[in-house]
Amino acid sequence: MASTLPLHFKVATPDDAAQIAKLVQSAFRHQDIKWTGPDIELNRRFTTTPAQPLAIITNPDAAFLMATTADGTLVGAMAAVKKTEQLARLAMLAVDPTLQAGGIGRRVLAQTEEFAVETWGVKKLGLNALNTRELLVEWYERRGYVRTGERSEFPAEGLRELGIVKEVFFVEMEKAVGGDGMGEKV
Ligand SMILES: CC(C)(COP(=O)(O)OP(=O)(O)OC[C@H]1O[C@@H](n2cnc3c(N)ncnc32)[C@H](O)[C@@H]1OP(=O)(O)O)[C@@H](O)C(=O)NCCC(=O)NCCS
Repeated sequence: MASTLPLHFKVATPDDAAQIAKLVQSAFRHQDIKWTGPDIELNRRFTTTPAQPLAIITNPDAAFLMATTADGTLVGAMAAVKKTEQLARLAMLAVDPTLQAGGIGRRVLAQTEEFAVETWGVKKLGLNALNTRELLVEWYERRGYVRTGERSEFPAEGLRELGIVKEVFFVEMEKAVGGDGMGEKV
């Protein structure tokens, strides 16, 4: 669904860390079983603190993009970190749970991609998503990301107590950028 809600984008400053942490935590804890997948108990327990976005905000090779409405309400955010001259990693994409599935996520992702390309001149963007969230992996595929075939470890403590016996790992994905193919228009 395309969102027509006017959004303003800005790069976060240290004062924004607390509200970003609040948004990220509420977005990841949101429980839509169809979209979230069977790892719902992992979502319920997701916790973050302002220290996490603050570390990104204060890193000279990183930024947290914020999407706000006209009255300044934060509705979406995503982090970008320059890893090499060629590659930036994107992470912590989050949309206000009351506004999810309305097209904001794809706009925040597109804006963060554009920021990384314009600021650092990178040619590749990398991100990951849990293997249990196939719909989310497919959503990134529709945004032009491809599975690299690599996996990254998910911290396994507590998974068995949650009744999760299947293997949980991060699916690594990449997208070539900086040429003509920056992906869809938002
Ligand atoms: C993932 C997230 C950022 C997406 O943002 P959003 O604003 O909800 O996303 P959009 O509205 O742009 O897109 C929603 C997509 O999901 C699909 N979708 C929505 N609800 C769905 C459902 N119940 N089942 C299947 N697909 C669904 C829509 O078809 C749409 O796909 P399309 O744009 O390719 O047609 C948001 O849901 C979120 O904050 N989730 C919690 C945090 C998170 O998981 N972040 C990603 C970590 S890797």
